[in-house]
Amino acid sequence: MSESAIPASRPRVLSGMRPTGKLHLGNYMGALANWVKLQDAYECYFFIADWHALTTDYADPSRLKLNTLDVALDFLAAGLDPEKSTIFIQSHVPQHAELNLLLGMMTPLGWLERVPTYKEQQENLSSKDLTNFGFLGYPVLMASDILLYQTQFVPVGQDQTAHVELTREVARRFNSMYKNRLDELKKSIVFPEPEALFTPVPKVPGTDGRKMSKSYRNTIGLTEADSVSATKIGNMSTNGQRIRQTDAGDPELCPVCDLHKVFSSAEVLAEVQKGCRAASLRCAECKELAFHSVRGVIDPFYQKRMEMESHIEQTWEMLRASSAKAAKRAEQTMVEVREVFHLSHELGEEGRSFGVSKEELDSRRNLDQYEELKRPIRTEDGIIDPHLPPYWYESVLPKEIAITVDPDAGWLTSKKKRVFVTAGISDPVGKLWSFEVPQKSYEVWVLLFRDESNRLEDFVLPQKYFSQPYAKAKKSLKKDAKIPVTISHDGDRFLLSIHGSEPIEITELQSNYEPLK
Ligand code: TRP
Ligand code: SF4
Repeated sequence: MSESAIPASRPRVLSGMRPTGKLHLGNYMGALANWVKLQDAYECYFFIADWHALTTDYADPSRLKLNTLDVALDFLAAGLDPEKSTIFIQSHVPQHAELNLLLGMMTPLGWLERVPTYKEQQENLSSKDLTNFGFLGYPVLMASDILLYQTQFVPVGQDQTAHVELTREVARRFNSMYKNRLDELKKSIVFPEPEALFTPVPKVPGTDGRKMSKSYRNTIGLTEADSVSATKIGNMSTNGQRIRQTDAGDPELCPVCDLHKVFSSAEVLAEVQKGCRAASLRCAECKELAFHSVRGVIDPFYQKRMEMESHIEQTWEMLRASSAKAAKRAEQTMVEVREVFHLSHELGEEGRSFGVSKEELDSRRNLDQYEELKRPIRTEDGIIDPHLPPYWYESVLPKEIAITVDPDAGWLTSKKKRVFVTAGISDPVGKLWSFEVPQKSYEVWVLLFRDESNRLEDFVLPQKYFSQPYAKAKKSLKKDAKIPVTISHDGDRFLLSIHGSEPIEITELQSNYEPLK
């Protein structure tokens, strides 16, 4: 298979099917036929979700491989082409499980309990115990399937809407929760929000007039023998129409006519409708015509499936090879995801401050030597340096300080208390630095600035240093106004003043990170 046959620029599409055994006409018309059409315009990934099958069928997995093979053969027989699409088995690409684990860390339980199919399925499949962890996590695994390939479009039926919606929410939460980390990695997002791709498909009626579905036992199989389809169609009820063949009937009320509508040509359909209303066509003949139309779709499929079955080993090899290809693409995404969670297999920046002398660490405060610190922005009021907080976090803050960033709340101590981190503006002489603090309650303030010799200074102030003047300032300022704060350098001492309050000495708080722990 030549890589170049698939230009990477085509939008990516991914969809999967649980291996529930041989497929029927409803699966074909509802999904597969559409997937086959997508292959030329998109970079397609189609897979068999064998792990998903275990979320409900864990108690008896004995048929899993057979069912997986059955679905794989049906994919190929239906026209999914391994030269055009990547067709694979979910469990052969372990990255799905790894991403599932990681997304599971940040997906709130409430989101999963609220997915409507969760309660519905538990009720519908009451013969199975679906109080297991894996079943609750079904949508996270599905989100992982989709996000692992940074997929844009997901062709699915309406019944999967809630799952795709949850996937979008997980993607959004990830991209925003780790925004600061992504900035550091110079990425805007990892996961694009995928869109469901609904294609209008005819409702395929089963042999009882209801929607064709395995659970109704009304299916026409894609690999059943002629005689089996003939019997099923021959035995179909006419829904009370034409009990006596001499009576005229209303084809609109008869499920056989529904089959004609989906599978017969316009001419045959018209002939049948006319013959039914005029009582000039016997039901047996009408069903015979329906049988031929249905077999017109099934027969070519059937041929191809038989051929594949006779080369089962090659088919299996092909699936393994294309699962390896899927894994290669999946790994690209996982490298990014592991970076975000600081799980990368490279030592990376975490190695920076180990085995480094105190002098060396100290010299890192000298901001002159750092190329990556862009030129400070000079304003009339002094110098403002918007890059200081990440720099402080990466290079100066000792690694054992577990301060984190929450997308909503901002910086947090390891005990989840709110921290305000800001860089100050320097006066032209470099003896006084000004800060603005929002009127919000924080456990700790961290005030950063460049001193007169371009070194980074940091003061970590616990509440008791600011709570009283802060409360006073709040009373006299407008609701949205920021509270002006200054630090001044007086000989060896640093002094803090909050909205004109009496200066207090904070010299000892320099680089005293205790309050952040
Ligand atoms: N839940 C889907 C179904 O039951 C199957 C599935 C699993 C899926 N993972 C997916 C579909 C990813 C689309 C994309 O039909
Ligand atoms: Fe149904 Fe066909 Fe008989 Fe009319 S003729 S009642 S459509 S089976």
